[in-house]
Amino acid sequence: MLRTLPTADLTAAERAVVRQMLDLAFAGNFGDADWDHCLGGLHVVAVERDEVVAHAAVVQRSFLHAERAWRCGYVEAVAVHPRWRGQGFAAAVMAEAERIVDHGYDLGALAASASGRGLYLRRGWLPWQGHTFTLSPTGPRRTAEDDDGTFVRVVPGGADLHLTGTLTCDWRDGDVW
Ligand SMILES: CC(C)(COP(=O)(O)OP(=O)(O)OC[C@H]1O[C@@H](n2cnc3c(N)ncnc32)[C@H](O)[C@@H]1OP(=O)(O)O)[C@@H](O)C(=O)NCCC(=O)NCCS
Repeated sequence: MLRTLPTADLTAAERAVVRQMLDLAFAGNFGDADWDHCLGGLHVVAVERDEVVAHAAVVQRSFLHAERAWRCGYVEAVAVHPRWRGQGFAAAVMAEAERIVDHGYDLGALAASASGRGLYLRRGWLPWQGHTFTLSPTGPRRTAEDDDGTFVRVVPGGADLHLTGTLTCDWRDGDVW
């Protein structure tokens, strides 16, 4: 069963269960800032036999590109419980996250981990080919280390992205991309 719900509709117990699954799935590489980054928007949660088996979140961010602001649906915390991998659950939560992005935002974006790259490429997400920046409190800051892992999604009917241009994300604590 797939559920889509805002953070506000997750009970404290449900939040704890989702966080536990993410901690397990990312094998210790999921911190409090990462958790914070997936709150405040929509969660897509796959549940099988009362167990949370997969998760993805879409949060709104503001990006700069081609001299304008873009409302970005940023996909965070995509993970499948280690015991439930290879059965299409990542594809299922991503399909729903993509529906949310396509119908609510100017573009989609995400930061791919090494193990996530293949999933996103197969689903048509596009690797950014230009330079990435963040709008830090002291002004635009280059984020060269994030160029390779940044993927975008052109939404149907949306404006064209210049993939070799610059893409600037808003600022946040923790990993900005
Ligand atoms: C990445 C992850 C979510 C994939 O979960 P999964 O259960 O294997 O995914 P699915 O079974 O839904 O596979 C979806 C598709 O992606 C493909 N795929 C999944 N991982 C892949 C990889 N590493 N390389 C290439 N293709 C991959 C599958 O073959 C499948 O393709 P198909 O639809 O053409 O058959 C899972 O390995 C995970 O949770 N990893 C740890 C957390 C993480 O890194 N998340 C990504 C954050 S960016």
